[in-house]
Amino acid sequence: MLKLAVLISGGGSNLEALLAAAADPAYPARVVCVGSDTDAPGLAHAHAAGVPTFIVRPADAETRADWGRALAEEIRRHSEAVDAEPILVVSAGLMRILPPGFVDAFSPRLINTHPALLPSFPGAHAVRDALAAGATETGVTVHVIDEGVDTGPVLRQARVQVRPGESETDLHERIKQLERPLLVDTVRAIADGTIDLTDPSTYR
Ligand code: GAR
Repeated sequence: MLKLAVLISGGGSNLEALLAAAADPAYPARVVCVGSDTDAPGLAHAHAAGVPTFIVRPADAETRADWGRALAEEIRRHSEAVDAEPILVVSAGLMRILPPGFVDAFSPRLINTHPALLPSFPGAHAVRDALAAGATETGVTVHVIDEGVDTGPVLRQARVQVRPGESETDLHERIKQLERPLLVDTVRAIADGTIDLTDPSTYR
C-alpha cells in the first residue's frame, strides 16, 4: 500500500478526489497526512476523513531551507507512525516552490499537478497565462518534481480545448474536472508499479 503525504494551499478538490479514491479498499494508496503552508480551507477534507493535518508556515522559518526541513520532518513523523512502506509526496495545489533540500530528501518520490500542458505555462498563474497567450488548447500535467519550477519529467497529461471568450475561472474549473481523475489514475499507476519513479522509461 502506497502512503501519500498530500500538500495543499487552497480548496483541496484534488485532495478530496484522492481521499474519495482511497476510501475504496481496492485503491492501492492511502492518504496518511495532509500538510499546508497556510490555513488552507481544503484541510477540512482531511479532517472529515480523519486524516492528520499539519501547517508549516514559511514565515515561522528563518530560511526557505529551514521551512523545507520542517515540512519534511512533519511528513516523516506522520508517515513513520503508519508503517514502513515508501511515501509519495503529492503536491496538489501547493502554491510554493519546494526548496532543493526538500526535493533531495524525497526525490524521485514526489509529484506535482499543474494546470497547463508543461513545458508551456509553468508558474503560479498557468491558466491566466494560457489565456493571455491566446492558447487554443491547454490542459493539465502530473509530473515528478525536480529543483526547477514545474520543470520535472512529465508522467501524464490531459488536454482541454479553450472556448472563445472563456474566463480564467471557467477554464480552470474545466481543467480541474480532468485533473482530479488524472491525479487519481497517476497515483494508482505509481502504486501498482505501472510507473516506476526510478525508471523514466515507464513515465509515459
Ligand atoms: C489545481 O488546479 C492545481 O493544478 C493548481 O492549483 C489548483 C488547486 O486546486 N496548482 C498550481 O497552479 C501550482 N502551480 P485544488 O485546491 O482545488 O486541488
